[in-house]
Amino acid sequence: MSPAPHPPKPVPRPDKVSLLRYLQLFRRDILSAQPARLYRAWMAEFRTPFFRSYLCNDPKLVDLVLKQRPRDFPKSDRIREGLRPLLGNSVFVTNGEVWERQRRIIDPAFEGGRLRDTFPAMWAAGRALLARLQPKATGAALEIEFETSHAAADVIFRTLFSIPIEDETAGAVFHEFRAHQKAQPVLNLGALLPLPDWVPRFHRPQTRRTARRIRSLIAGLTTARASAIAAGTAPDDLATKILTFPDPQTGACFDTEEMVDQVAIFFLAGHETSASALAWALYLLTTHPDWQDRLAAEARDCLPDTDAAPDFATLGRLKQTRAVFREAMRLYPPVPMMVREARCPVRLRDRDVAPGAQIVLSPWHLHRHERLWDNPDTFDPARFDTENGRQALREAYIPFSTGPRVCPGAGFAMAEGPLLLAMILQRFRLTPVEGRIPVPVAHLTVRARDGIWLHLTPRA
Ligand code: HEM
Repeated sequence: MSPAPHPPKPVPRPDKVSLLRYLQLFRRDILSAQPARLYRAWMAEFRTPFFRSYLCNDPKLVDLVLKQRPRDFPKSDRIREGLRPLLGNSVFVTNGEVWERQRRIIDPAFEGGRLRDTFPAMWAAGRALLARLQPKATGAALEIEFETSHAAADVIFRTLFSIPIEDETAGAVFHEFRAHQKAQPVLNLGALLPLPDWVPRFHRPQTRRTARRIRSLIAGLTTARASAIAAGTAPDDLATKILTFPDPQTGACFDTEEMVDQVAIFFLAGHETSASALAWALYLLTTHPDWQDRLAAEARDCLPDTDAAPDFATLGRLKQTRAVFREAMRLYPPVPMMVREARCPVRLRDRDVAPGAQIVLSPWHLHRHERLWDNPDTFDPARFDTENGRQALREAYIPFSTGPRVCPGAGFAMAEGPLLLAMILQRFRLTPVEGRIPVPVAHLTVRARDGIWLHLTPRA
């Protein structure tokens, strides 16, 4: 048997290009706009007439920026600008006291105990996904990113608002969202490419239109929920939990407008990312049938084939499935890069960094760093049992970021991803579609340029 191919990786740009060429490449795709040396560098500086940015791969620097001194490296206002039409003042874009208050209210909803409560809704979404896939498991080529997006959106609506994606409003949000992404595919571009302040920034009319529609649909759901809470008829789901949880410091709950901002980011951050990770994991399994068989056996041993959800503890038994999901996020971190702004002068390694400089943390490069990982471009879920894998996992693995701004949905996503993966593998066999090797590009999340295609057939 020939060895499995290396998972696809974008072709890096030549080391030296003009600024104009860089901007052109950047606009097309952030990943292929970077030179190969970033996979070996501890730190890299980019100088342009307008801005300086520093990509930090040294684990000590990542630790400094995200964990030790996060207040000195806040999110830049440019991020807010790019995301404002859709996200308003959501926790993803705020800083300082506003952000701290938002996290005090949101975090408890995602703690372990609450996660257990959401499990039946995740299971129901998984069963609905299997029902949608069943008629498509004919061996014909299937674009799986659409299916994983659909499933992840379903998980969010079921866990947040106790409604399935078939609900009229939920379905409308999902479809509007796809339109929104088409109108503004690289949502963070403005943030990653700081232009001088005098350059006007426009949101395309379609971006503003779709954002308005999404927010008005979410506002409808949130207002209805606030009324149900007042009437004592609200289900005990994440939306109710968040809307009724008073800030432990001030005693005040979110008002409806604030909640709309947060629901928008839960939907955006919670479904795009999980969908991306799941789709890449499924693709990697098409090219690694040995791992696929192992996971199918694990799923058969652990999961019932019933609509009734098993015990939450079942999740803990999906060990190999979790390792595959983790490895898929190493190779294809759904959020490929994060940007912060230096608030005060700071010395990073041997360089003096001025206030206003952009600090780029790149899970994409860190997860494939040649000096930190053995065989970084190989798919090897067993690596996490090796000494190198364990060390790199601690120092150089940040798919959910780290520090106080770590993703509040990390535990949720690590339940959802392996669960849906196991449910799919229990039922179906996956094989690659000849000639359709996905090309990774950084849109809002790391996606495949022309989708991720595979064949699905029922497992005997
Ligand atoms: C595989 C799935 C996921 C991945 C890889 C992921 C990754 C991330 C990353 C890297 C950040 C930090 C971004 C930055 O600082 O610039 C983040 C923030 C966030 N994520 Fe996730 N996420 C996932 C799923 C979820 C889910 C399921 C939810 C909620 C339902 C969620 C909600 C959020 C929120 C609200 C933030 C903003 C936190 C803050 O800035 O304080 N994410 N996520």
